[in-house]
Amino acid sequence: MTVRPDNAWSEASVDLRKVGANPDYWYPVAWSHEVKSGQTFAARFAGEPIVLVRPSEGAIFALEDRCAHRQVPLSKGTVDGCTLRCVYHGWRYDASGDCIDVPYLGKGKRPNGVRRYPCFERDGLIFVWPGTGPAAAPLPRIGAAADTAYKTRRFGKLVACHYTFMHENLMDMNHQFLHRRTTGKVVPRYLGSRAGERWMEVDYSFARPGEKPPLGEAVIVGGLRGRAGTARDLMTVRTEYPYQTLQMWTKGDAPVLNVWLGYTPIDAAQRRNRTFVVLSVRKPRIPGILDLGWPVLAWFTNRVFSEDCEIVEMEQAAHDAQGADWNREVFPPIHALRKLLRECGEPGSSPDGAQRNPGRT
Ligand code: FES
Ligand SMILES: [Fe+2]
Repeated sequence: MTVRPDNAWSEASVDLRKVGANPDYWYPVAWSHEVKSGQTFAARFAGEPIVLVRPSEGAIFALEDRCAHRQVPLSKGTVDGCTLRCVYHGWRYDASGDCIDVPYLGKGKRPNGVRRYPCFERDGLIFVWPGTGPAAAPLPRIGAAADTAYKTRRFGKLVACHYTFMHENLMDMNHQFLHRRTTGKVVPRYLGSRAGERWMEVDYSFARPGEKPPLGEAVIVGGLRGRAGTARDLMTVRTEYPYQTLQMWTKGDAPVLNVWLGYTPIDAAQRRNRTFVVLSVRKPRIPGILDLGWPVLAWFTNRVFSEDCEIVEMEQAAHDAQGADWNREVFPPIHALRKLLRECGEPGSSPDGAQRNPGRT
């Protein structure tokens, strides 16, 4: 049996890894291209099965992925016009989740339907509102994906860890040691942090006046920077619950790098999350250069992302083995981040594998 050391430091009685993601937000559940016209897609939020339906005409919609009749997944059914028919007995549901036809019952006899989830599509992502509170206005934009001044790549994966490990990993730039074989030596310098209601952000710089940067840093940051000597070199990592962004400026107001990340818990215990990354790079004056370097950038970002995923999965494994959070965090902004994630998380939650009440309407 593993015994927690006496001097292990605990910052709060609530284990952050047991704080559920607050469902009263918009969460990305699929890339647009995954949901084909006239087809369904099986998604999940914290153990809740959700079917996305893209009718051949009309807007995409999202329903509970369980037929009201015998609970089989509606995602196995067929899209028929603007409706969804269950694969088993052919009950038909409309976009609001109402059962509008039971083929073998007389007209007017209709059982209760299934839950509808507010849903919208933007910049290559499909979002649902899993909460039972009123849905807020859809997000205004996803990073710089809609801005033609940027070239954007979308990637991500299923990561076997609690979503809070993802937030901490990105915000704590002091982990560049992990990436040394991919990036070479990169030395970010912490400048300061700010916080407000439901958000906090941390600034880093790579600039060291009068000093030569390490080679890895010179290649990566210098490449983004353009001409030497014009650098402002400011990187800001921000958690605006429940999303994260990473932006980097070199000169002017427009960031040269703009990354948006969403983390959607998949299982009821929230030990796995689907990470969605929308990464945009500002096009240089000669855009062909960026196109030319794009495969290298894709390789590089995939590799850094894999290294991050691997290490956060190890953190989750340690948490599972120890049954609690033994972390001894020393970087003050991460304490602030953990506090924010605790405060914004699902009130009173302690996901332990129990399925959330989907609040069927
Ligand atoms: S189980 Fe869906 S129609 Fe019977
Ligand atoms: Fe990293």
